Amino acid sequence: MAYQREKICHISALTRHKLRSVSLRDEVVDEASLSGLLACAEVYKLKSMAWSPGTRVGSYEIVDVLGDGGMGKVFRVRHLISNRAEAMKVLLAASSASQEMLDRFTQEIRVLATLNHPNIAVLHTAFHHEEQLVMIMEYVEGMDLRHVLAAGITLDQAVAYTRQLLTALEYAHSRGVIHRDIKPSNIMITPGGQVKVLDFGLALAAPEVRLTMTGALVGSMHYIAPELVSGEGHDARSDLYAVGVTLYEMITGKLPIEGANYAQVIGGLLQRRPVSPSQINPLIPPEFSAIVMKALAKEKQERWQNARDFLVALDAAHLGRASELRVVSLPTSALTGAAQPGVTGEASKYEPDQLSEIALKLAHYVGPIASVLVKRASSASNDLQALVEKVAQEIEGAEARQRFLSSVSGQFRKSGVL
Ligand SMILES: Nc1ncnc2c1ncn2[C@@H]1O[C@H](COP(=O)(O)OP(=O)(O)OP(=O)(O)O)[C@@H](O)[C@H]1O
Ligand SMILES: [Mg+2]
Repeated sequence: MAYQREKICHISALTRHKLRSVSLRDEVVDEASLSGLLACAEVYKLKSMAWSPGTRVGSYEIVDVLGDGGMGKVFRVRHLISNRAEAMKVLLAASSASQEMLDRFTQEIRVLATLNHPNIAVLHTAFHHEEQLVMIMEYVEGMDLRHVLAAGITLDQAVAYTRQLLTALEYAHSRGVIHRDIKPSNIMITPGGQVKVLDFGLALAAPEVRLTMTGALVGSMHYIAPELVSGEGHDARSDLYAVGVTLYEMITGKLPIEGANYAQVIGGLLQRRPVSPSQINPLIPPEFSAIVMKALAKEKQERWQNARDFLVALDAAHLGRASELRVVSLPTSALTGAAQPGVTGEASKYEPDQLSEIALKLAHYVGPIASVLVKRASSASNDLQALVEKVAQEIEGAEARQRFLSSVSGQFRKSGVL
């Protein structure tokens, strides 16, 4: 069903009406899932729109495309009178949003327009053009954190970026504005190392819509706090959870909760405690690791209660020898994580056959994500035993975990590897 749903979402030419009848006729989805599909179709309709360089949109001319995210498309534009470069974000068509959401969003735009902070990309204006909501923002030179991570950053840099991110959030939260979509692609890093947070309050769709949508929105899922899945409501601490996920990714090259499908990610989000950063990399001091883990607590009350407390803890932490450690995390947009992050400069210590043997056994318990998990663990572990134990943590249930461990050690003992 997931596959069919994805297929339908990609039929960008389908009108909302056709999509409704096709979906229902083929009984691909129930009525409840339809809103997600419709929103999805809007995204693809928007993406297929021919807004090319040279096109005029209000008082702006499109120069080139800056990015193509789940909720819209971003262009670099030139203001026709001032000549200034700005960023234009075209958002998902309003027709898929409820009136209440639109009212809330309009209110948000008004609040956002009052934000003025060196670490927040300023919203300049918003208007409608050909039934699309268009926002004009400050154009930020540099690279978003997703791509910066692909090039690799040191732990020192990770802390410096997180500090700036928290400063921006402290400012916004004190004015009652919650970001709702903190993730690496919404964090720009300028050539001088300054952080500029993008998309404040732009998480237009309600969480349930985002969760039922497929494709490009998947990437956001890993940064969503557990309370959004359980329906408890979002507050400033949910943003701090997303900061925790981002910092975890920056210092380990991995996401705290991974899974081969929505159910696994959501299940993990609600139940699975992530492996701590110092377990992944023993060079990371446990006290520093604990700061990150506190941001990732499932219960809001157990997290950092505000951005300032998180910031103060980071300032007091010492990275020691780990500060120069360089971590690479390739951009992932799929649940299975096409990326193979890890610490750079390490040649593989394992035979490919050994790794595929382990992946095969692991797949029995966790599905096709097994090979990605094994690959990742191989760059973070020093020996085969540690690798096997690390991937075993992905298996739910002590009994199943034990079965996996015995079967792997049986196999390798036979061949004299373990
Ligand atoms: N104001 C800006 N200045 C410069 N580049 C920008 C700006 N806004 C966005 N971008 C670039 O465009 C990319 C895509 O942005 P976009 O918000 O569309 O996608 P996303 O963040 O992946 O998804 P979402 O739609 O959920 O926010 C960003 O990651 C960034 O590289
Ligand atoms: Mg964005």
